Amino acid sequence: MTRLGVALLFLFIAAGCNRPVQPGDPIPGLARAERDRFARGKVVFDSEFTPHTGLGPLFNSTACGECHEDPKAGGRGDEVEIHATAFSGGVCDPLVQEGGPVIQQHATPALKQALGIDSEPFPPSASARAMRTSPVVFGRGLLDLVPDSLILSYADPDDRNHDGVRGRPNRSLDGRIGRFGRKAFVPTLREFNAGAFPAEMGVTDPEQPTEENIGGKPIPPGVDSTADPEINQEALELADDFVRFLAPPTPAKLGKEGRRGRELFSQIGCATCHIPTLRTGDSPVPALRRREFAAYTDLLLHDLGPELADICLGRAAPADFRTEPLLDLRDATKFLHDGRATTLEQAVDLHGGEGAAARNGFKVLTPADRAALIAFLKSL
Ligand code: HEC
Ligand code: HEC
Repeated sequence: MTRLGVALLFLFIAAGCNRPVQPGDPIPGLARAERDRFARGKVVFDSEFTPHTGLGPLFNSTACGECHEDPKAGGRGDEVEIHATAFSGGVCDPLVQEGGPVIQQHATPALKQALGIDSEPFPPSASARAMRTSPVVFGRGLLDLVPDSLILSYADPDDRNHDGVRGRPNRSLDGRIGRFGRKAFVPTLREFNAGAFPAEMGVTDPEQPTEENIGGKPIPPGVDSTADPEINQEALELADDFVRFLAPPTPAKLGKEGRRGRELFSQIGCATCHIPTLRTGDSPVPALRRREFAAYTDLLLHDLGPELADICLGRAAPADFRTEPLLDLRDATKFLHDGRATTLEQAVDLHGGEGAAARNGFKVLTPADRAALIAFLKSL
């Protein structure tokens, strides 16, 4: 090869290394064996279950990848779920005895025939219902590794610094800090993924080996004859690795307007909750270990006011939501937990409660500054 050829080849390789991470890409720097598990895990994530392979008897969809699909596997979906819990005397009941907080919208033909229902009956003890859009799951492997101590360092439940923001962690029933789901109730990515198989597809796995009951009643005999668990440990671990290794897409390069927007984002208080950068702790996977990444969340709960309030979950009261990580906003057309905002301006306008001061700060910006802030959000 000529000297020029060598130089060009080198440039080509260097450019390849700095290629921006696209939605759906794996975390850069994974070992070959990890990339292999990512590819095999994607197959499990996109597998369509049938009643014969374990689907149902109640389910919301037939594959993880049916709801997390846009623009690539692991992205958003247009499915909107119904969740329900009961809140009374400050205590939250996730209604496990009545089939759990996720209300499945479909039933297998065998269940329809046995009980004459085509979805899960709405739990009679529920005190509220919630709508939940299907979010992107990019970058969740990094969020999983943020040390509890870092999350707690942002908490300020008694508002000691008097900024009107009172972030606090949710906790699982056994007291661990929660971080996944819109109410941050689930402490680890693994538990969320292992729980999604039965909750979304009615597919049991070794870590969640029992089907949910049907509105408090057992599954009629003969309706679900696939032996539990309906997927094995290896399939669960592969799907988990696929989600864990999905990278957050690289934010677009900022021009002058975007840089101004990024400054305003901090100045008017958005960054108090949407912490721009977080850092992971230790991990057996070198590519995930001690990495700084664009997160735009504190993983804490905030009361965003009565307008957005729906269900409780764990220690999250109806108006409490986890600060949503701001990621892949360029591909989004619906915002907030139920998708009620169709523009970024609306999403900001709907911040009440602890978010009201920042929202008001946004409202009084000049039109040019508001446009700059939106341009910045669209770079994410
Ligand atoms: C019927 C649609 C649907 C299916 C199927 C589905 N999900 Fe989800 N997923 C959702 C919704 C809705 C949420 C948001 C839940 C919430 O707000 O609490 C979610 C949230 C998640 C999250 C948490 C993201 C976060 O920000 O905390 C992960 C991880 C996830 N899903 C993984 C999976 C996996 C793995 C599967 C397959 C086993 C799966 N999902 C199947 C709709 C779906
Ligand atoms: C008090 C904490 C807090 C502050 C301050 C705050 N946010 Fe949020 N933000 C949240 C929470 C919590 C959610 C999730 C609400 C929901 O899902 O209904 C959210 C959601 C969002 C979303 C929707 C993301 C999505 O994918 O649906 C956007 C966009 C957003 N915030 C931008 C901003 C901007 C811009 C500012 C500053 C003007 C701001 N936020 C200030 C807590 C905050």
